[in-house]
Amino acid sequence: MRMRKKKHLDERMLECSDYLIKTEVGERDSRVAEADLKAIDFKVLFGNANPVELEIGCGKGGFVCAKAEQNPNINYIAVEKVSNVIVSACETAKSKNLKNVKFLNLPAEYLLRYIPNKSIDRIYLNFSCPYPKTTYANRRLTNPKFLKIYEQLLTQKGEIHQKTDNMAFFEYSLEQLSDCGYTLKNISLDLHNSSFEGNIMTEYEERFCKLKMPIYRAEAYKKCAE
Ligand SMILES: C[S@@+](CC[C@H](N)C(=O)[O-])C[C@H]1O[C@@H](n2cnc3c(N)ncnc32)[C@H](O)[C@@H]1O
Repeated sequence: MRMRKKKHLDERMLECSDYLIKTEVGERDSRVAEADLKAIDFKVLFGNANPVELEIGCGKGGFVCAKAEQNPNINYIAVEKVSNVIVSACETAKSKNLKNVKFLNLPAEYLLRYIPNKSIDRIYLNFSCPYPKTTYANRRLTNPKFLKIYEQLLTQKGEIHQKTDNMAFFEYSLEQLSDCGYTLKNISLDLHNSSFEGNIMTEYEERFCKLKMPIYRAEAYKKCAE
């Protein structure tokens, strides 16, 4: 089902244009020649050569904006396919006058068109849609199709950090990560009752926390060949 466009969405997006990275890919439109596209130059985009981290499926952007505020020496790119949602994230970044966060309004399937290879130090997957039906497994952001994309994007010491409320999706993700050659570390089956420090709650996480649901968290990295 296609979501109805929010009132004044175009005006709101325009107001935040400094925060939105210009792309040729709309929510639905992928008809653009790959050859015509150039990967983003992070030095030009952020005006510095600081490390870059990526959040995929950022929703309303509470997590990435808090991260950017706490870590001024790290640059953040947050990806979200739904314009109705990413506009709120851009507005939050603008209201905080953040200089180290930018937003990409596109499906993660197109990331390789915009993000240079081996340029991302960390990928955050926070409460990604679990798509429980097996017929939709290829939409899960930890499906091998996406893990292959992340492998191209991540630097040698790059990591994937995942949080979810969904145990079946967590199990699936650990299995896929492991099958794709990732090593897992810092696995938590109840993040909020663990010794993990410095957790930043996302909008969805706050909801699940109020319902006293356990939050699952893991980190994954690739061991480089000596
Ligand atoms: C359940 S919400 C979680 C939002 C936020 N991370 C949080 O924790 O509050 C998942 C978000 O991922 C986005 N999403 C799902 N698949 C995506 C994809 N392939 N590319 C980009 N965004 C995607 C959805 O539009 C949705 O906003």
